[in-house]
Amino acid sequence: MTDKKAVLNIDGFDTEIDLPVLSGTLGQDVIDVSSLTANNIFTFDPGFTSTASCESKITFIDGAKGVLLHRGYPIEELAEKASYLETCYLLLNGELPDAAQKAEFESIITSHTMVNRSIEQFLAGFRHDAHPMAIMCGVVGAMSSFYHDSIDINDPTHRMITAHRLIAKMPTLAAMCYKHYVGQPYMYPKNDMNYAENFLHMMFGTPCDMPKVSPVLANAMDLLFLLHADHEQNASTSTVRLAGSSGANPFSCIAAGIAALWGPSHGGANQAVLEMLNEIGDEKHIDKFIKRAKDKDDSFRLMGFGHRVYKNFDPRARVMKKACDDVLAELGLEDDPLLRIATRLEQIALEDDYFVSKKLYPNVDFYSGIIMKAIGIPTEMFTVIFATGRTVGWVAHWNEMISNPYKIGRPRQLYTGPSQRSVQAMDER
Ligand code: SDX
Repeated sequence: MTDKKAVLNIDGFDTEIDLPVLSGTLGQDVIDVSSLTANNIFTFDPGFTSTASCESKITFIDGAKGVLLHRGYPIEELAEKASYLETCYLLLNGELPDAAQKAEFESIITSHTMVNRSIEQFLAGFRHDAHPMAIMCGVVGAMSSFYHDSIDINDPTHRMITAHRLIAKMPTLAAMCYKHYVGQPYMYPKNDMNYAENFLHMMFGTPCDMPKVSPVLANAMDLLFLLHADHEQNASTSTVRLAGSSGANPFSCIAAGIAALWGPSHGGANQAVLEMLNEIGDEKHIDKFIKRAKDKDDSFRLMGFGHRVYKNFDPRARVMKKACDDVLAELGLEDDPLLRIATRLEQIALEDDYFVSKKLYPNVDFYSGIIMKAIGIPTEMFTVIFATGRTVGWVAHWNEMISNPYKIGRPRQLYTGPSQRSVQAMDER
């Protein structure tokens, strides 16, 4: 608890209201307003721009300093010294694994990578050109129908095996979405491949030809998953927490998170960045698009720029930019026209007062799309890759909430509709 407090004086109220001020390990203090209901008044904060929805020990972001910590470890260090599965272990358990724990965790995840054959019939019901995110929303939600043996959310072992199943099966499901989209046979996971290598194998291998997966591309893919692993209470993670607060099974909660991530303001931005770069088409058109992005009457926004929390730089974008350079160099694509447009766009935007004054910097989505395109992943799959990497963050937050006392999320509102009135008879309407 804390001895700090805020005192609220409200016109029309006879007494002051004392509200506790709580301090975390890092970051802003928060005013605990939960007692306000007893005083028959609510707070009002559309978009939750000033609201801390929960207490968490998983991820910390300092938007002003461009800091992102997972269980205290900076994202830059995890990107350099840990794998995606080590980061998954960290997010789920609170500590990085030692060598034995890492080997055991990798073995557990590998043992859950296959999906039930019935999932193939499920996918067959989708149009061949269905957006892969539409398929993922449906298939992940349906997974609860396969695992009746482990969806008692109050059983910690059920929660952990569900976390393992989701982390393990998302790449398999994602690759199946792609294969359905391109009309090729599904590829099974191979137990002798690591997580990212297996994903690229299932994406680009065929029964007729299973080329060796490039270690550079596999490392880039692992880094992409790692950089997308978690990001505190973003829109999709908040959706997972809210769905989970009703006691819904974890597969349906993750499906809700996938649906929220799909929007172009959130995880759908990586696809929107590529579509924007293709629409710009040439460096000589950049100024026209910068002008449109600044025009209040034009709904166009510079996709991949801006962030609710980062008002300096997104540390993930910096790591992503270096990985982008490495992948394109490895593939001999340094002169990629889209990268040229992206780099020039970033330079111009970062010198333009509109973007500087509004603190609009490249975010995680700005360069990720260029890496994924270079690896050969179609834009429709970009958000599926984001969802695959973010699944561990969603399930870690879900597990943290369910493991501690929680209440069903039930926000209130400021009602501005009609006052009470009577229903008129039809001939009086
Ligand atoms: C992700 O929350 C997370 O952590 C998300 C994420 C994660 O890991 O989970 O980091 C992943 O979603 C990254 C963001 C990806 N989205 C995009 O790149 C889409 C483009 N960006 C914007 O839509 C916007 O910047 C948001 C949605 C990301 C943030 O919006 P906010 O915080 O609600 O800010 P805002 O919309 O109120 O914008 C503030 C001002 C506005 O101008 P004014 O009304 O003050 O005059 O900045 C302008 C906006 O018009 N603005 C932009 C802009 N982003 C904001 N103008 C042009 N281009 C942009 N990209």
